[in-house]
Amino acid sequence: MRASLAIALLFAAGAFAFEEGGEWAGTELCQGCHEDIAKAFLKSNPHSSLDTNTRRGWQTRACEACHGSGVKHAESAEASLIRNPGKLAVALADKTCLSCHANQPSRSGRVMTGHARQQVSCVSCHPVHKKGPDPRTQCGSCHQGESLSFAKPHSHPVRQGAMSCADCHNPHGGVLSKAVSTFIGNEPGCLQCHGDKRGPFAYEHAPMRTEGCGACHEPHGSTNPRMLTRPSIAQSCLECHAGTGAGFGGVPPAFHDLRSPRYRNCTTCHMKIHGSHVSKALLR
Ligand code: HEC
Ligand code: HEC
Ligand code: HEC
Ligand code: HEC
Ligand code: HEC
Ligand code: HEC
Ligand code: HEC
Ligand code: HEC
Ligand code: HEC
Ligand code: HEC
Repeated sequence: MRASLAIALLFAAGAFAFEEGGEWAGTELCQGCHEDIAKAFLKSNPHSSLDTNTRRGWQTRACEACHGSGVKHAESAEASLIRNPGKLAVALADKTCLSCHANQPSRSGRVMTGHARQQVSCVSCHPVHKKGPDPRTQCGSCHQGESLSFAKPHSHPVRQGAMSCADCHNPHGGVLSKAVSTFIGNEPGCLQCHGDKRGPFAYEHAPMRTEGCGACHEPHGSTNPRMLTRPSIAQSCLECHAGTGAGFGGVPPAFHDLRSPRYRNCTTCHMKIHGSHVSKALLR
C-alpha cells in the first residue's frame, strides 16, 4: 500500500520524466562509453535478445529498456541523469523488471512474498550485469536457520546440492502461505518427487488430504528417522489417535496393548500408512 503510494507520488513529481518524449540514445552510443558492460551484455545476457527482437519494441536500444531514455545522460555523462535500478528503492526497482515480467505464465513476476514486502528486490537475487551466483544456492545466506536445519541427520539432500530450496518454494510467491509451491495433501510439490504417495487410494489416510505431509513430517529435516515430527512412530500416531479432540482419528481397538513394544511400532502392521488399495486399516 505504502509502496504503491510512493510510486504514485513519484509519478506525480515527474521522477520518470526521462522516460517520456520517445527519444532514445541507442545501444551503440551507450557502448561507446560503457564498452565492457555492453560487450558482456550483448554476448551473454538473456536480455540482449531485446536488442534484436522486433516484437518487443526495444530493438537497437535494449539498455534503455531498464535504464530509461539515456539521451541526456549520453550528452553529459552525468550519473544523476540516468536511472540505475541498483540504486532505486525496492518498489521502484521491481517495477522496472515487472514492466516485462509481471504475470508471466512462469514462476516469476509476482510480488506476493515476504521478499517483496521486506525489501528483497529482484536485483538482489538477479543482478543483471554482475555474474551472480545461481540464486537457487543463495537462500541460506539470509535464511540461516532453515539452511542449518538441513544438516540434521534425516533431511533432504539440499546441502549436498542434489536439490534446492526452490524445489519446494517459489521465491516469487504463490497462492499458498510461506510461498510453498507444493504441500497440502495431494498437491504437486511433494508429490512431484514422491509420486507413489499420490494415490488415488481406495483407502486414503485422512490427514494426507486434510493437513498434508507436514502433519507427520518435517520437510526441513529432523533428528527423527523418516523426518518424522516425533521421535517414535507411536507418538506421531497417538497425537491424533488417543481419543481426544474432535475431527481426530479413532482410538485403536482394545487388542492394541500400547505398553507392549510390539504395538508401539505402529507401521510394522499399518504398513500402508499413506493409503492402501485394499485395506481400510492400512495394513497392506
Ligand atoms: C559520453 C560517455 C557516456 C555515454 C554515451 C553513456 N554513459 Fe553512462 N556513464 C558515463 C560515465 C562517465 C558514468 C559515471 C558517472 C559517475 O560515476 O559520476 C556513467 C554512469 C552510468 C550509469 C550509472 C549511474 C549511477 O547512478 O550509478 C548507468 C546506469 C549508465 N551510465 C548507463 C548508460 C546507458 C544506458 C547509456 C546509453 C543510453 C549510457 N550510460 C551512455 C558515461 C557515458
Ligand atoms: C534487464 C535490465 C537491464 C538492462 C537491459 C541493462 N541494464 Fe544496466 N543495470 C541494470 C541493473 C539492475 C543495474 C544495477 C547493478 C546490477 O544489478 O548489475 C545496472 C547497472 C548498470 C550500470 C552501472 C554499473 C555499476 O557498476 O554500478 C551501467 C553503467 C549499466 N547498467 C549500463 C548498461 C548498458 C550499457 C546496457 C546495455 C548494453 C544495460 N546497462 C542494460 C539493469 C539493466
Ligand atoms: C523490456 C522487457 C524486460 C525488462 C524491463 C526486464 N526483462 Fe528480464 N527478460 C526479458 C526477456 C525478453 C528475457 C529473455 C527470456 C524470455 O524471452 O522470457 C528475460 C529474462 C530474464 C531472466 C531469466 C534469465 C535466464 O537465464 O533464463 C531473469 C532472471 C530476468 N529476466 C530478470 C530481470 C530483472 C531482475 C529485471 C529488472 C532489473 C528484468 N529482468 C527486466 C525482458 C525484460
Ligand atoms: C537477501 C536476503 C534473502 C534471500 C537471498 C532470500 N530470502 Fe527469503 N526472505 C527474506 C526476508 C527478509 C523474508 C521475510 C521474512 C519475514 O517476513 O519475516 C523472507 C521470507 C521467505 C519465506 C517465507 C514466506 C514469505 O513469503 O514470507 C520463504 C519461504 C523464503 N523467504 C524462501 C526463500 C528462498 C527459497 C530463497 C532462495 C531462492 C530465499 N528465500 C532467499 C530474505 C531473503
Ligand atoms: C529470493 C530470491 C529471488 C527474488 C527476490 C526474485 N527471484 Fe526470480 N528467481 C529466483 C530463483 C531461485 C529462480 C530459479 C527458480 C527455479 O529454477 O525454479 C528465479 C527465476 C526467475 C526467472 C526465470 C525463470 C522463470 O520462472 O521465469 C525470472 C524471469 C525471474 N526469476 C524474475 C524475477 C523478477 C522479475 C523478480 C522481482 C519481481 C524476481 N525474479 C525476484 C530467485 C528470486
Ligand atoms: C522438501 C521441501 C522443502 C524444502 C527443500 C525447503 N522447504 Fe522451506 N518449507 C517447506 C514447507 C512445507 C514449509 C511450511 C511449513 C509450515 O507451514 O509449517 C516451509 C517453510 C519455510 C519458511 C517459513 C518458515 C516460517 O516459520 O514462517 C521459510 C523461511 C523456508 N521454508 C525457507 C526455506 C529455505 C531457505 C530452504 C532451503 C535451505 C527451504 N525452505 C527448503 C518445505 C521445504
Ligand atoms: C525435488 C524432489 C523432492 C521434493 C519436491 C520433495 N522431496 Fe522428499 N525426498 C527427496 C529425496 C531425493 C529424498 C532422499 C531419498 C533418500 O535419501 O533416500 C527425499 C526423502 C524424503 C523423506 C524421507 C525418506 C526416508 O527414507 O528417510 C520424506 C519423509 C520426504 N522426503 C518427505 C517430503 C515432503 C513432505 C515433501 C514436501 C514438503 C518432499 N519430501 C518434497 C526428494 C524430494
Ligand atoms: C499420518 C502421518 C503421515 C502423513 C500425513 C504422511 N506421512 Fe510419510 N510417513 C509416515 C510414517 C509413519 C513413515 C514411516 C513409515 C515406516 O517407517 O515404515 C513415513 C514415511 C515416508 C517416506 C519414506 C518411506 C517411503 O514410504 O517412501 C516418504 C518419502 C514419505 N513418508 C513421504 C510423505 C509425503 C510426500 C507425504 C504427503 C503427501 C506424507 N509422507 C504424509 C507418516 C506420514
Ligand atoms: C494428524 C492426525 C493423524 C495422525 C498424526 C495419524 N492419523 Fe491415522 N487417521 C486420522 C484420521 C482423521 C483418520 C480417519 C478416521 C475416520 O475416518 O474415522 C485416520 C485413520 C486411520 C486408520 C484407519 C482407521 C479407519 O477408521 O479408517 C488407521 C489404521 C490409522 N489412522 C493409523 C494411524 C497410524 C498408525 C498413525 C501413525 C503413523 C496415524 N494414523 C497418524 C488422523 C491421524
Ligand atoms: C501387531 C500389529 C499392529 C500394530 C503394531 C498396531 N496395530 Fe492398529 N490394528 C491392527 C489390526 C489387525 C487392526 C484391526 C483391523 C480390522 O479391524 O480390520 C488395527 C486397527 C487399528 C485402528 C482402527 C482401524 C479401523 O479400521 O477401525 C487404528 C486407529 C489403529 N489400529 C491404530 C494403531 C496405532 C496408532 C498403532 C501404534 C500405536 C497401531 N495401530 C499398532 C494391527 C496393529
